[in-house]
Amino acid sequence: MEEGGRVSSRASSDNLSELSGAEALMREAIELSRRVLPHPNPRVGSLVVSPEGDVVGRGYHHAAGSSHAEPLALLDAGEMALGATLVATLEPCNHHGRMPPCTEAIIAAGITHVIVGAIDPDARVGGSGVDRLRAAGIRVTTGVARDEVIASDRGYFHHRRTGQPRVVAKLAATIDGQIAAADGTSQWITGESAREDVHRLRSDVDAVVVGAGTLRVDDPLLTVRLDAYTGPQPRPVVLGGRRPLPEAAKLYERNPIVFVPDSTLVPASLGDVVRVPDPLVDPTAVIKELESRGLLHVLVEGGGTVARAFLDAGRLDAAVIYLGGKLAGGQGSGMFAGKFATLVDAHDVVIESVKPLGTDIRIDVSFPVVSKEAA
Ligand SMILES: NC(=O)c1ccc[n+]([C@@H]2O[C@H](COP(=O)([O-])OP(=O)(O)OC[C@H]3O[C@@H](n4cnc5c(N)ncnc54)[C@H](OP(=O)(O)O)[C@@H]3O)[C@@H](O)[C@H]2O)c1
Repeated sequence: MEEGGRVSSRASSDNLSELSGAEALMREAIELSRRVLPHPNPRVGSLVVSPEGDVVGRGYHHAAGSSHAEPLALLDAGEMALGATLVATLEPCNHHGRMPPCTEAIIAAGITHVIVGAIDPDARVGGSGVDRLRAAGIRVTTGVARDEVIASDRGYFHHRRTGQPRVVAKLAATIDGQIAAADGTSQWITGESAREDVHRLRSDVDAVVVGAGTLRVDDPLLTVRLDAYTGPQPRPVVLGGRRPLPEAAKLYERNPIVFVPDSTLVPASLGDVVRVPDPLVDPTAVIKELESRGLLHVLVEGGGTVARAFLDAGRLDAAVIYLGGKLAGGQGSGMFAGKFATLVDAHDVVIESVKPLGTDIRIDVSFPVVSKEAA
């Protein structure tokens, strides 16, 4: 193994230096995969690497129903695939779906070594791709930068493991837990680094949900705004309530999916309206509808009332809470609105990590698995 991400042609064991080169290549493949979010299919990036260690082919999966990453990388490499190494963020598939099995394309191209990030949790794959390649005499290395691969597509891995979309609440609060003042002002509780981090969160999700209250007060865009960013933009989702929605809002330019009770008036300009029978939109119905559209990773950005509705419905898998360097010293809007009558009403969470971010703190929490009504 040589330095600088070059993979040795020697069929040596997976020693440390070889692994670090493979990790560098895997990171390049992850970056490729992040150009799109092709749910309900996974993000996949693939490279073909010559025996000299040069990347001679690149491919990524663009959209459900289109070519997979590995055949695209092989096509890009052409004859240089013969005797080369193939790097894939996800285990190559071994079944006939809308596309032929990637394993057969890899075998036919004369690849001698396949480096895989994560085994595909999809029941149709689940290790059979690796088995098929090994049975064909190809050397296979698995688990390279596995955690980074999974972190780059949490929605897909969660969905295949649990059968449900992954739902995350994001809230920015003062150090004493207020997300807005009594007059509704909340911009900005946190500093620039935390706000930039929110844009990175959005770049990994299919949909961003806000309630009618946030739509009225903040008039948000909910786009990913990062320097030089050209990746996917999440679909905005609005939960309307009993009051008519405003006639104009910035989000309306982004074709939001709008859930509203049957009786509520909506502006005629809104083209994607989902009517619900209840006076308040049921979070489980929202997730089910989003899943039916292939939206598997959902960020609930508030406000506190909607965050509470998802919490009470047991529909949150995780929350990202930013605490800004501000102390409200009084009561505005809490992170999860409503009454907190007695301690037994508190929800148990697992604090996964606490990280300083500029002048703020990011706290990641997960919710212990509770039985969720099948969505
Ligand atoms: N710091 C942060 O992270 C952050 C993030 C977002 C917002 N905010 C702030 O939070 C405030 C807005 O929050 P909010 O709590 O007033 O409003 P919200 O949670 O954005 O929206 C609540 C409204 O959504 C409608 N709704 C639809 N389905 C619902 C359901 N299942 N349960 C409850 N409501 C449902 C209801 O509208 P009707 O009233 O019409 O029935 C309800 O009043 C603003 O001040 C905003 O600046 C802060």
